[in-house]
Amino acid sequence: EVAPRDGLQNHHKDIQTRDKIKMVNVLSQCNFDSLEVTSFVSPKWVPKMADAHDVMMGIDRIDTIDYVVLTPNDTGMKNALLCHPNTISIFPASSDAFCLKNLNANKNETFQRFESVTKTAHEHNIRIKGSLSCAGYCPYVGDIAPEIVAQDVQKLLDMGCQEISLADTVGQMTGDKSKAVLDAVLKRVNPEKLSGHFHDTSGQALDNVDVYISAGISVFDSAILGLGGCPFATGAKGNLDTRKLLNHLHQKGHTTTVDMTALTNAEKTISQFI
Ligand code: HMG
Ligand code: MG
Repeated sequence: EVAPRDGLQNHHKDIQTRDKIKMVNVLSQCNFDSLEVTSFVSPKWVPKMADAHDVMMGIDRIDTIDYVVLTPNDTGMKNALLCHPNTISIFPASSDAFCLKNLNANKNETFQRFESVTKTAHEHNIRIKGSLSCAGYCPYVGDIAPEIVAQDVQKLLDMGCQEISLADTVGQMTGDKSKAVLDAVLKRVNPEKLSGHFHDTSGQALDNVDVYISAGISVFDSAILGLGGCPFATGAKGNLDTRKLLNHLHQKGHTTTVDMTALTNAEKTISQFI
């Protein structure tokens, strides 16, 4: 579940810190494996995440849940360490243009910065998720060749990422395009290490989920109430709605661990301040 981070980083309302904490706590009752809580990014760049420390320190953590925070550079990593996240997410992009817009550095510099961040994570035994934006399509330059995505996945593997999340940042990937990306990527990595992150701008997210499942991938990011969007990705609408994903999976006969009654309760609670 990524709504507390991806869902709020660009939300039109200013959500109070205490409501963000309530949001994470109510989502913690739903039995997700993993919850993306916040980002230790520059408050000048992303003001909505300026309370990252207070949110992380305010939540009631459950031992079985993997609490994830985004770390864009060494400064973010240093600040994140104070809150003992289970996992950090590093987030380069397969597109040079998107790295510049999102992280104020070209792609080479971006990967170098993340090398340094991952070194610290290894020293502290913190799990690393590599979230690769524009894994097939970039809002600024269009299609990205599958082999480029595969090379970037290899770099993330070499940095020691335990999970690599392939992101359709602005929801433009069709099932066919995703299949071409996976054909290239799966030459370098086992499907167990991969996950999918689909913004649902064009209503194609579930097609991509099906393609990923056919390839043996069974971990997906989604956001309660379909919240989400990146401030630096023109056209990035909400993430795949968690309920829509779960209904789809259950209809197809797949099992999940999520408690649907707790999910309904979380939707009601969060709707009060969103
Ligand atoms: P910069 O301005 O180039 O940073 O930003 P800088 O290193 O030049 O430092 C400038 C000032 O910022 C300094 O302070 C630093 O200390 C401070 P000053 O000396 O001026 O007082 N600073 C920081 N403060 C707090 N936390 C930090 C930090 N770093 C520097 N971590 C930077 C570069 C990477 C920081 C900036 O571009 C940034 O924060 N970008 C984050 C953008 C972001 O959060 N995007 C959304 C998340 S990604 C996403 O949504 C995609 C995803 O969902 C997958 C998908 O859908 O594609 C994951
Ligand atoms: Mg996203």
